[in-house]
Amino acid sequence: MAPKSIRWHLFQVLLVCVLPLGLFAAGLLYLHWQAQEEQRERSQIESARLLAAAVDNALDSTVQRLSIFARVWEANPADDAAIYAQARAALVGNPDWSNIAAVIVEPVLSAGGMLFPPTGYLKRLRELAHQNGALFIVDEAQTGFGRTGKWFAIEHHDAQPDILTLSKSVGNGYPVAAVITTAEIADEVVAKGLWNLSSHQSDPVSAAAVSAVIDIVREEGLIDKASESGNYFIAQLQELSLKMPAVARVRGQGLMIGFDLIVDDPERTDTVVNDFMFGCRRRGVHITYGYGGINFRIIPPLVISRSHSPRRVTQ
Ligand SMILES: Cc1ncc(COP(=O)(O)O)c(C=O)c1O
Repeated sequence: MAPKSIRWHLFQVLLVCVLPLGLFAAGLLYLHWQAQEEQRERSQIESARLLAAAVDNALDSTVQRLSIFARVWEANPADDAAIYAQARAALVGNPDWSNIAAVIVEPVLSAGGMLFPPTGYLKRLRELAHQNGALFIVDEAQTGFGRTGKWFAIEHHDAQPDILTLSKSVGNGYPVAAVITTAEIADEVVAKGLWNLSSHQSDPVSAAAVSAVIDIVREEGLIDKASESGNYFIAQLQELSLKMPAVARVRGQGLMIGFDLIVDDPERTDTVVNDFMFGCRRRGVHITYGYGGINFRIIPPLVISRSHSPRRVTQ
């Protein structure tokens, strides 16, 4: 019998030693990969859980803060120190300013309860933001374009925004929104790669609609009208409130008007506010309520006239 060749021996060594070792290593690699996959899945689930918790917390703390503001404003709207303390409290919940790029506010908290910040509050908030290197962004989706008796509600507060956001009324029904800022901020944002792309961005048709709305608001004097008919309407509602204590805390600025409906039995709040809202609608008056149930919003078109207001109010 011919002696086995050296290749044959090498093949046997490979078969007996190297191949099992290779299979063993492949098995280890597979287990490692599987463990990594499981880890990835676990961390995805954990991230989703953390995100959900963060959203919950943010909502909770927003609702809490809104109710704190409402109480402080009511208690002493002229107390500058208290207002300043509240402005700080609103922000210092997260004291790590290095993580805060901007403070965003509505000049009237609409869905948040028709809350009108007292004089000085938004100015303080702006100062705080600027002292800490953050931008002051004002959301005028609801309040812009004359609603409160000025082109922008922030004009009541001597607190010029770094960025102003607009929607709803700017197109008077045509779907368009806008962001207004300085060239300096816009350039910086773009330079940092933080820009947004959307199908209908910078659309000339939308721009034409906004331009037409600006002309009409000017030509028809709608800003002064909003202020005048708002004052009249608010005064009428305040008179009604004296006769009907269930209509309480009438408040407003121009044609951004709110009141609280007092419901004696808290268990019946939901039923009563819904009945009230739909009852008004059946009589041709469109009002809605904000978060928290009892605060109603009256936000009529700027062309509403005195002949509409008192009749509706007293009906
Ligand atoms: C105060 C406020 N900001 C922003 C928005 C969002 O506006 P849009 O739906 O045009 O994005 C709304 C919409 O209701 C709003 O009320």
